[in-house]
Amino acid sequence: MRDIFDAIQRSAIRIKDAIDVKDIGYSQQENSSGETQLELDIKCDLIIQEEFSKVSSVHTIASEEKEKEMLLNKDGKYFVAYDPLDGSSLIDVNLSVGSIYGIYDGAFGAENMVASCYVVHGPRVEMVFAENKTKLYLLQAGEFEFVKEIRLNEKGKLMAPGGTQQNWASYHKGMIDNFFQEGYRLRYSGGMVPDLHQILLKGGGLFSYPATSDKPEGKLRRLFEVFPFAFIYEKSGGQAIDGKNNLMSLGHSHIHDTAVCFFGSNYEVDRVKEVYSENE
Ligand code: F6P
Ligand code: MN
Repeated sequence: MRDIFDAIQRSAIRIKDAIDVKDIGYSQQENSSGETQLELDIKCDLIIQEEFSKVSSVHTIASEEKEKEMLLNKDGKYFVAYDPLDGSSLIDVNLSVGSIYGIYDGAFGAENMVASCYVVHGPRVEMVFAENKTKLYLLQAGEFEFVKEIRLNEKGKLMAPGGTQQNWASYHKGMIDNFFQEGYRLRYSGGMVPDLHQILLKGGGLFSYPATSDKPEGKLRRLFEVFPFAFIYEKSGGQAIDGKNNLMSLGHSHIHDTAVCFFGSNYEVDRVKEVYSENE
């Protein structure tokens, strides 16, 4: 696991340099989720692939930017799924982006997840790594320094409601409106890494990406986005559900499968469970 952690750190430093160029280059290609790939997305994908290729414990990788999984070392034991540059369409407006990693033992699947990690590229570069506990690191002079352990409070103050509102179910809209009436403050940049990072570090709240009429299975990818953050939120004392079930209890049938998802502190996620059990 130490080798994987080191490979993620080396990738983060190379990605930081890759982002800091004038032309991020819109390519003509689309990834498996139908999003336009930037040359930068492809470059970051290759950086991570290259760094994991040096790690003998990595068996197979799967990336948001690759159609299929890729075998790296048949004697390795870890399967790593990653989103190389989540929120890359926000780079031209200079908002934060990030990389997300799910580390699975023996095969992809939530039940096999043993660690997860994300890196935030904002004004500073930070990394959050969860195994038994969730730990925050800050990039300082080329090295990631440990900052602190992260624990969520029972109840937070922030609300990050994803998905096109026009396409929300009415009970979902009612639930979000009620949170705002209770005093929650809107915090939504459109990048799941900084949005979930903010809720985690400010003590709690709720990030939601509900089923919508245009995306009934949600938008966010199980292996690269949903399971890694679900693991981190659970290890930090929060919860992660699809409305009813824990996200970590869900299966997947394809590496690019999506899931409806809610991540937050206990008070807010319990409310989601109440509302969703009354309405679905
Ligand atoms: O990877 C998908 C993503 O860019 C996430 O980072 C983000 O949370 C989500 O899409 C935003 O989607 P929407 O704009 O539909 O709320
Ligand atoms: Mn993404």
